[in-house]
Amino acid sequence: MLAIRGAITVNNNTKPEILDASRMLLTEIITQNGINVDDIVSVIYTATQDLDQVYPAAAARDLGLTMAGLMCYQEMLVRGSLQKCLRCMVLANIDRKQSEARHVYLRGAITLRPDLISPDETKADEPNPVVPDPAESDSTAIGIDKVKSDRRERFVSIAIDGPSGVGKSTLAKALAKDLAFVHVDTGALYRAITLHCLNKGVKPEHKKTVVDVLSAICIEILYKDDIQRVILNGEDVTDRLRSPKISKATSRVAAIPEVRAKLLDLQRNLAHSQNVVMDGRDIGTKILPRAQVKIFLDASVHSRTLRRMCDLPGSDYDIVKRELEARDRDDLQRSVAPLKKAPDATYIDTTNKNFDEVFERALSLIKDRLRNHTLNI
Ligand code: DC
Repeated sequence: MLAIRGAITVNNNTKPEILDASRMLLTEIITQNGINVDDIVSVIYTATQDLDQVYPAAAARDLGLTMAGLMCYQEMLVRGSLQKCLRCMVLANIDRKQSEARHVYLRGAITLRPDLISPDETKADEPNPVVPDPAESDSTAIGIDKVKSDRRERFVSIAIDGPSGVGKSTLAKALAKDLAFVHVDTGALYRAITLHCLNKGVKPEHKKTVVDVLSAICIEILYKDDIQRVILNGEDVTDRLRSPKISKATSRVAAIPEVRAKLLDLQRNLAHSQNVVMDGRDIGTKILPRAQVKIFLDASVHSRTLRRMCDLPGSDYDIVKRELEARDRDDLQRSVAPLKKAPDATYIDTTNKNFDEVFERALSLIKDRLRNHTLNI
């Protein structure tokens, strides 16, 4: 008998989200362990008390597990534990050593098992997939084989990359609102790691010491009123991430390969479970090389300096410009995942455009690319 565990988080306590997450978790457990569905004896789900809209085991029935024993329990309320979390235990009648079981932790739940955070799993610069023809894609048909292979294409990813101060996050946030997608600001994740280092007196230039503290860092993303919040070791640090000191130190911390590896799955898992507009430096090239739409935003240093100064009242032009140039150098010259336009990204120079013009250009590009796509919400 083999016992396999798994966990996943959901953003909202709604029936579709709970069922979708339950399905995804079970499918991953089955496929990663190469289990024959008929060998599954029982599936036990547990849910934290903030998830009460549906029994998650209904998803197992949808996947064809009609013979296995299915059960759901509500979890104890443990202070400080992950919220909106589903756990699953699959018992399969297989002759395999228990030590060979591959436990599965997805989305925010990956933070429960930092040891599972893996290095890159797909090649960068992979071409975009062909957008599926709705006539051929059956978004309601669910089957073990199909769910796994379709998982990455079922949700739409829009990747926005570009240098500091170009307005990526502002654009990504507005697009996400218009499209009812989730906005993922990946810079905030690197900033949170930097905040932890500075709090612990670790200097960003001391690479080894930064790497040493990584295992003590647990980062989660939550959404409150559709706004991304970054939780660092259980504490919401979102409002402390944008100081010039953090900005400066982050470009150093983000150049460390182990830091990037730590954040890789968190970013990918967010995109594999919902429609996202994700902004950063390596989203189109490295994190989501199969994103359906990729945009590379650019602008002159002069215009980015002026924009940045609007966010920092009383700041000095020369200082802001020098800092931007230093961050550009760090982002462009680092050896891992440097800032680079993906070959299939659309380049938008925003130097002489106002926000509305950039927004309209990006939105029409997205609508054009997704014309034939059936959205999963
Ligand atoms: O987008 P931002 O200014 O919040 O990013 C902060 C720093 O993090 C910036 O120096 C570049 C780095 N970063 C990165 O290397 N990769 C990302 N995907 C996002 C940000």
